[in-house]
Amino acid sequence: MALRSTFAITSGLQYRLRAAGALLGVTDNTLRTYSDNAGIEVKRASDFSPGAPPVRVFLPETLFQLAQWRRAQGYIKIPQFARSPIVLAIYVIKGGTGKTTTAVELAIHLQMMGLRVALIDIDIQGNATQSMGYEPDLTMDEATAYEVNADAIVQDTFASIMLPFLDRSRGSLALRAEVGEGVIKKPFGEHGPHLIPADTFIGDLEQGLALAKGQRELYIRQMIEASKDGSVPGFNASNYDVILFDCPPNVSFTSTAAMAAADIVVSPIRLDAFSVKGLTKVMNEITAMDEAYKLRPQLVILPTHYSPHLARIGRMQSQLNKYRDMLAPNVISTSEEFPKSLENYLPLSLQKPTSTPASEYRMFAEFMFKKIVDLGSKGGGK
Ligand SMILES: Nc1ncnc2c1ncn2[C@@H]1O[C@H](COP(=O)(O)OP(=O)(O)O)[C@@H](O)[C@H]1O
Ligand SMILES: [Mg+2]
Repeated sequence: MALRSTFAITSGLQYRLRAAGALLGVTDNTLRTYSDNAGIEVKRASDFSPGAPPVRVFLPETLFQLAQWRRAQGYIKIPQFARSPIVLAIYVIKGGTGKTTTAVELAIHLQMMGLRVALIDIDIQGNATQSMGYEPDLTMDEATAYEVNADAIVQDTFASIMLPFLDRSRGSLALRAEVGEGVIKKPFGEHGPHLIPADTFIGDLEQGLALAKGQRELYIRQMIEASKDGSVPGFNASNYDVILFDCPPNVSFTSTAAMAAADIVVSPIRLDAFSVKGLTKVMNEITAMDEAYKLRPQLVILPTHYSPHLARIGRMQSQLNKYRDMLAPNVISTSEEFPKSLENYLPLSLQKPTSTPASEYRMFAEFMFKKIVDLGSKGGGK
């Protein structure tokens, strides 16, 4: 019995040309040419089920590999970054608005566009961790009963990177064991988005920051900077173009520190409920940070759970009017597919690449891609 390295239900993940093309954003013909020229092994349906036609099928790993190849070939233009990584905090002070969904979908689509993404789960709920294929509650002892190996278990979190960093910043000898490379999960292989997972131990970071002296809001930002020359065990930000923080829904030292590290704050808000207050609180936090540290991340507001039939939306839209310059150019519709995708431990866009929700998130990711490339290539400011 082969033990699996994630919980993802991957049996459906053999894309034919159309689905694969939708994920990479290319036509069937371009994809054929890519797969002929890239020198990357592309499987045939007959490799998986004898008797199936020998048509090309793509695994997620293969598509992510093609995405990196396409960038290396210059088929997708990404200017040299003068400053990287660009940091995004997905944050709004309200639960259930689509933060985690947005973080995970952005990770998938931005990576498909050729950027190298690290998704960092800093929510104790660990939903992003779960969406990427890992069960935060599972312990090592239970693993084999679930037919998974040690890779599928969350053993270290972002706290395992930050706490030794806080110790060193205090000048105290690091008493805890330094974390190894193993903190970084690669659910879709080296060329896919990387994940720093969360389980309940991420809560230790909140405590660590609460006890830290000085400008505790700045520690995540400082860790990211310091990591670029390889001096932070377990993490090196220079391996990435983009870092995405999936934040918890409450005001906390951890999410404030993630926001202080961010170039862009993305606030998903449910259009069928009252999220505008949560948005006002985010704005106030940004203003306070600007006053204290001259840090002013851009705010991007993404309406989610959109349904044209809901009468309340008219009122929501007038409430949103004062934020209209910050609104994303498209919305994410309500879809029952989202909660279902979590049960499969897989982002929806990988499960249903040609679905409406997947194409909406891709459209949003294209908007964010331009912003990220723009910020990265301009440099300065940080
Ligand atoms: N556009 C959407 N339509 C329907 N359900 C959604 C949508 N976006 C997210 N969901 C579902 O709503 C719940 C909360 O979403 P999640 O992304 O976890 O929010 P948050 O991280 O803000 O708490 C999840 O069950 C998720 O699958
Ligand atoms: Mg969440």
